[in-house]
Amino acid sequence: MAVRIDGKALAAKVKRRAAEEAGKLSRKPGLAVVLVGEDPASQVYVAGKERDCAECGIESFGYRLPAETTEAELLDLVRRLNEDPRVDGILVQLPLPGHLNEETVINAIAPDKDVDCFHPFNVGRMVIGDPVFLPCTPAGVMEMLDAYQISIRGKRCVVLGRSNIVGKPMAALLTQRDGTVTICHSRTEDMARCTREADILVSAVGRAGLLTGDMVKEGAVVIDVAMNRDGNGKLCGDADFASVEPRASYITPVPGGVGPMTRACLMRNILTAARLHQA
Ligand code: GUN
Repeated sequence: MAVRIDGKALAAKVKRRAAEEAGKLSRKPGLAVVLVGEDPASQVYVAGKERDCAECGIESFGYRLPAETTEAELLDLVRRLNEDPRVDGILVQLPLPGHLNEETVINAIAPDKDVDCFHPFNVGRMVIGDPVFLPCTPAGVMEMLDAYQISIRGKRCVVLGRSNIVGKPMAALLTQRDGTVTICHSRTEDMARCTREADILVSAVGRAGLLTGDMVKEGAVVIDVAMNRDGNGKLCGDADFASVEPRASYITPVPGGVGPMTRACLMRNILTAARLHQA
């Protein structure tokens, strides 16, 4: 039976450290949280991030904008936040309503306030191994592997999903740590053949039941990044936990796995930004 990786406990540790660091700064770090529209999942995520800020001694400034906000209005807000000295980090919650171009909005965020690590400048710095910020979810996954002393060097790593938020940066971080990395996606032929070779399998697709026990090598490490709802409305990841857990050596539960670590790593990025701004 697999060891369950306790993301909640690890996140609490990371946040405690963040709170200590925040206390050493000459002014309270600040995060601007921008939510456009009323997507219920986004509302829950954003509330969680604001709670984490409060726990860590970080000021959060919430901006709730109506779904019909124009791109010009949103860009204007981002530009004002770029100039606001109380604001160290700017988080625009994704997805944005369809009429807003996410790339345009992300590109408008000052790179030194881009605590999600979504701006091309920060993505580039991360990929060449000279990061300012680390992308929150992939960084959280790396932290979990390290905490459980799971070695990456030379291991076959398979990442399911190629999003800019998770799949691509995840592959970059695993590569930097000497993993041999394959990315699978919706056009991959015979995905199970790839997944069965994985020593470390990271799933970030967003489809409940995608990963079943027969697709997992005995003893593999399974990191489940997804947050789905099953047929009963219960939170679950991509892995069919009942069939995957008996084959894995380590597995992250959903909830209580990667999610809390993503948020904890965001707190760390806000501190990085605050230090940049105080220097
Ligand atoms: N939507 C889903 N995950 C994230 C995230 O990490 N940051 C932002 N800004 N939006 C998201």
